[in-house]
Amino acid sequence: MPFRGPNLISNSSSQPQFARVLGIETSCDDTGVAIYDTNEGLLGHALYSQIKTHAEYGGVVPELAARDHIRKVIPLVDAVLQRSHCESSSITAVAYTKGPGLAGALLAGSAVAKGLAFSLDVPSIGVHHMEGHMLAPMLEDNPPPFPFIALLVSGGHCLLAHVQGVGEYKILGQTLDDAVGEAFDKTAKILGLGYPGGPIISRLAEKGNSERFEFPRPMLDRPGLDFSYSGLKTHALTQVKKLQDQLDEQTVADIARAFQDAAVETLVVKSERALQQYNVNRLVVAGGVGANQSLRAELQAMVKKRGAKVFYPRIEFCTDNGAMIALAGALRAHQVDQDLSFQVKPRWSLESLPPI
Ligand code: KG4
Ligand code: ZN
Repeated sequence: MPFRGPNLISNSSSQPQFARVLGIETSCDDTGVAIYDTNEGLLGHALYSQIKTHAEYGGVVPELAARDHIRKVIPLVDAVLQRSHCESSSITAVAYTKGPGLAGALLAGSAVAKGLAFSLDVPSIGVHHMEGHMLAPMLEDNPPPFPFIALLVSGGHCLLAHVQGVGEYKILGQTLDDAVGEAFDKTAKILGLGYPGGPIISRLAEKGNSERFEFPRPMLDRPGLDFSYSGLKTHALTQVKKLQDQLDEQTVADIARAFQDAAVETLVVKSERALQQYNVNRLVVAGGVGANQSLRAELQAMVKKRGAKVFYPRIEFCTDNGAMIALAGALRAHQVDQDLSFQVKPRWSLESLPPI
């Protein structure tokens, strides 16, 4: 796979320097490791999902997440090096997720990344997790050229951004309360389903009747590009309490469908508004909720109507992964950090990043 960098560094004629970056992602409940090479593209990647660890608690337990990352990171690094037929001596930098995310989980990945960088005598690069998500479609064939509108929809984030280049991000709107993935997860919990809720609700919604329940469309009647999702979860709770022992399988599927329809419609309408307001015809969708098939179908219909185009990473790179961190690290390979001390940023503004 060829390097996507020259396309990414919009209108820049300068060739980026060669880098072969080991990327480590540990911001939440997935341990992801990958190697990205600026000449050869993605060489290999591996992921360990902690879903089983957290499922019985119905959500991520930060302390358990941190401990699991510590256990898994090094074996995954070994596996990826082997799978990619790479000698560790060929790595030119180690990129890691510096934030935002769970403090303990971030610390686990950062400490390992810094240690590896020191032992390999290469620099380290602290990557912004959301920048990683936003650039993930660049790992695919036909990457989106700048500028584009990015819709970032995950368990921790829900925002629209105008992207003019790497590090040139303007946040146009974001959630005022819950992230949309969080709303999927909480609604699933209310319905007595498992964790994470997104994929389960999405599967059930396929069997649901869209006519039976009507959920509100938060913030749609207001101008602007902000979102609000905590009301949808509360609406689900009210329905469940009202129906009590009539909650058969079909009813749960019908509620799941009504919830999903409302969540998807608000994302699609606000994305369309952003495309219109900024006169842009490319939309990039990233983050775990980007795996949702109903969202994909509705966005496809919307962009088709407008003569625009929507770009996604492959499904496995919609959710947290090491490949997006290795890629973002490669793009910032010149902004390296030789310092052995480290500091994670559990809260970190996307707009504070420097352009490359
Ligand atoms: O990007 P991600 O892996 O982690 C965060 O950075 O949060 O996103 C995880 C989120 C979870 O809330 C999960 O329920 C949601 O993405 N998700 C989905 C689907 N697959 C994952 N939500 C809706 N439909 C899906 N198919
Ligand atoms: Zn994420």
